Amino acid sequence: MDMDLKELLSQFKDDLKKISSLEDLEAVRLKYAGKKGVLAKFLEEIKTLSVEEKKEAGKKINEAKQEIQEKIAELQNSLAGAKSASAQDRFYKTLPGKKIAAGHLHIITQAIREIVEIFKPLGFVRVRHPEIDWEWFAFEALNIPATHPARDEWETFFVDSPPDEKYGRLVITPHTSNGQVREMLKNELPIRMLGISRCGRRQEDVSHLQTFFQFEGLAVDKGISITHLKGTLDYFAKNFFGPGREIRLRPHDFRFTEPSFEVDINCSLCLGKGCNFCKSGWVELGGAGMVHPNVLKAGGIDSKIYTGFAFGWGVERTYMMKSGTQIDDIRHLFNNDLRFLEQF
Ligand code: PHE
Repeated sequence: MDMDLKELLSQFKDDLKKISSLEDLEAVRLKYAGKKGVLAKFLEEIKTLSVEEKKEAGKKINEAKQEIQEKIAELQNSLAGAKSASAQDRFYKTLPGKKIAAGHLHIITQAIREIVEIFKPLGFVRVRHPEIDWEWFAFEALNIPATHPARDEWETFFVDSPPDEKYGRLVITPHTSNGQVREMLKNELPIRMLGISRCGRRQEDVSHLQTFFQFEGLAVDKGISITHLKGTLDYFAKNFFGPGREIRLRPHDFRFTEPSFEVDINCSLCLGKGCNFCKSGWVELGGAGMVHPNVLKAGGIDSKIYTGFAFGWGVERTYMMKSGTQIDDIRHLFNNDLRFLEQF
């Protein structure tokens, strides 16, 4: 009997080691201390013993039973405690909630929206034209025939696809001016459009991106003159760039405008002194001019009755030249480094 009880206790201890849940523990309790458990069987067996022996054996069995019950109670407490602690980890109702970082619109999206808002009161409506288009819209219709050297300026990516008989090859639009004739062909006059799209060109450095945005303004109506163009650009510059900034028009040559200008603004980084970004104190924002009669013709508009002006600027550069942005490399805008983006 003695030996059996010792063995029983060591077996019991082995069983305890395997326990990982309250359910396991209950099974062990039933096995040893339950009504039909091992200890109950021992008590049954001692009935046949003499009174003296019975007393002795009964005492030992009770001691073993007590030890078993104590151990079970102990383990029960610690298992129940662990369970409620892990439940607390998951739901502790007075803990402050996890803060979810709020994002914001990309700065170029913000700039595009701001540009749209500034032009709205003048009657310019935002439109979209294809970003992959036929070279006819990007060049021919803009008075730049296939072999004209002016095409080199646009460092164009061509799409490897079969050409169209009339419209030629497909290009990644190198400027938004492809939208001019597309807009005219809608046959709704007068026109006041603001086309904003992605463009592609080969260069990339501090002031150029291979993929960038342009916004293209086009106004076609009876009696549109160069003063309307100048007034529109001044109005935009005043509203967008901030006080103390100047724009200048430089004579230039675009095949699709006559006369043509390049529009510069005094650099926001050095305020005209000359720096690594601008070199000369002025930054070119883009081109502008009076729509060439051949372009109106390609768009089905009678140039004897209608005239128009157009301008096309890069969104990224325009944004960089806004007072206070202090961005000295255009490539930062699309590196997607949150440390940079979160500043705006
Ligand atoms: N499309 C020209 C460019 O990207 C800019 C421009 C637009 C010039 C409209 C004149 C009129 O360089």
